[in-house]
Amino acid sequence: MRLEEIKQNIKKQLANSYEPVELNSLLPLFIEHITGWNQVQQVIHQNEEMLPEWEKAFQEGILQLAQGKPIQYIIGKSWFLGNDYFVNESVLIPRPETEELVEWVSEYAQIINKPLHIADIGTGSGCIAIALSLLLPDATVTGIDISEDALKVAKKNATALTANVEWVQQDILMSASLPANYDIIVSNPPYIPLREKATMQDQVTLHEPDIALFVTNEDPLIFYKMIARLGKQALNKNGQLFFEIHYDQGPALLKLLDEMNYHAELRQDMFGKDRMIRASLKK
Ligand SMILES: C[S@@+](CC[C@H](N)C(=O)[O-])C[C@H]1O[C@@H](n2cnc3c(N)ncnc32)[C@H](O)[C@@H]1O
Repeated sequence: MRLEEIKQNIKKQLANSYEPVELNSLLPLFIEHITGWNQVQQVIHQNEEMLPEWEKAFQEGILQLAQGKPIQYIIGKSWFLGNDYFVNESVLIPRPETEELVEWVSEYAQIINKPLHIADIGTGSGCIAIALSLLLPDATVTGIDISEDALKVAKKNATALTANVEWVQQDILMSASLPANYDIIVSNPPYIPLREKATMQDQVTLHEPDIALFVTNEDPLIFYKMIARLGKQALNKNGQLFFEIHYDQGPALLKLLDEMNYHAELRQDMFGKDRMIRASLKK
């Protein structure tokens, strides 16, 4: 079968599972994963016959896509702030709103203009820790996660991107302290109340790790509360917390942080949704 025919086949077989726009954006990634051809080469080779092993790989991949497996897990990579990160089902697929959080931290760090100690709590693929370490070469960065499998992914990414990050396996909800003191503690922790699981896409709930996504309905701000508590000992003078948040948690989290003696500032993402918070201890 020729590449062009394979493309038409994929579009037909996945028409019920994906919007046309989504299909058009995942198709070149899927084809590149199997053939090794970039988008330009895919045009040049559109009339070329596929190798039998490629046809087999296409059929297997189509089945996985039809079952809702995210393309990032199929091709084993995701794009974050200009770099490819290896991902598998042990880690959350990095999201665009998290890129905005990293940009905010980096802008802040550049204004401070001194070598900073930074901790990333719930590091997952390591995308926040590694991106900050690449953007701020003078910073000392530590990535913390409860999951050994996630830390394996983070280490692999750090090696591939030659980022110098220290990795620590730690359960932040069971910790009396952090590994060191920091100028910045950044976190995109689990924050989706479990009750929302039923309304979320299967693509997310069946494939991304529950441990990365969900918190109890009763205490959805538990990670922020714990990190703010740990921050009281672990933040250096003028130290800052930076959090990614659920779009409807802004006011509740501002109130919680105020009660815990922090000044906090809320920021919206590019879609105008409350998505990030910066906080520092009141003087
Ligand atoms: C929302 S994901 C964020 C992953 C990555 N930082 C990102 O932004 O793409 C949350 C991460 O917190 C980790 N995590 C969950 N519970 C934890 C705990 N009790 N202590 C430390 N890390 C935890 C999960 O393994 C997961 O990697």
